[in-house]
Amino acid sequence: MDVRIVASAAEVAREGAAKVAGLLNRLDDTVLGLATGETPRAMYRELVLAFERKELSFAGVTSFNLDEYLGLEPGSPQSYRSYMQRELFDHVDIDPLNTFLPFCEAGQHPDEVGPAYEAEIRRRGGIDLQILGIGRNGHIGFNEPASSLGSRTRVKTLTRETLASNRRYFGPGETQPELAITMGVATILDAQEILLLATGESKADAVRAAVEGPVAAMCPASALQLHRRVTVLVDDAAASKLELADYFRWVDEQNRRLESEGVEWNRS
Ligand code: GLP
Repeated sequence: MDVRIVASAAEVAREGAAKVAGLLNRLDDTVLGLATGETPRAMYRELVLAFERKELSFAGVTSFNLDEYLGLEPGSPQSYRSYMQRELFDHVDIDPLNTFLPFCEAGQHPDEVGPAYEAEIRRRGGIDLQILGIGRNGHIGFNEPASSLGSRTRVKTLTRETLASNRRYFGPGETQPELAITMGVATILDAQEILLLATGESKADAVRAAVEGPVAAMCPASALQLHRRVTVLVDDAAASKLELADYFRWVDEQNRRLESEGVEWNRS
């Protein structure tokens, strides 16, 4: 794993956006895996600004989001579709037909959504870069603790903890779904490259378990240890419980020096 510890959440956003921009400018048709939540919001803002400065284009991009609530009306402001429109899609030149979320259409059985989603990802050539946040309990997407590490896109019941922490997005009287459709852990691991973002002290335990804990279904993010190209981009607060924080900073310093000298290789 390439663990990058930076000073602030703003720095996480800037570095994350730079990584996405680098990929968009390198590949003609990029397939991005996208995440929602508070964490990537500032990175999307950076990408929109870069688009406005004409530094990048989303014209050739296809996107697959990690997850979507089950049972929200299409167009509901709390849906992850609405989040993506608001935070990114409405502000850049991405073709709306190339943006996918695992949404269950009216009349469709929820169990059909996952296999169809996986087939579409394969049809588009697979995900080049998957963006991830992390839940306080170590979830990625909505793969809650004890999710199979071999799981594929499917319906999941959210934990009470996740429901409580996402409650803030729902107003009084608004129904908060307890079910979601999420890419599985194995779906996520199929991506060519993964970028996990985490900021703030509330994520410090989850980051520690993901990076330094055993690979275990109790912390689905720990499965990322099995992937060859993962960058964990965190601010000081989210890194505050890492035993190897000093080592990661030292490695990062070396890597940045080598990069500035034009040397680059896979260091995960
Ligand atoms: C949500 C999402 C995840 C997200 C996580 C953390 O429930 N399903 O994809 O990474 O929780 O969210 P936040 O960034 O708001 O802390």
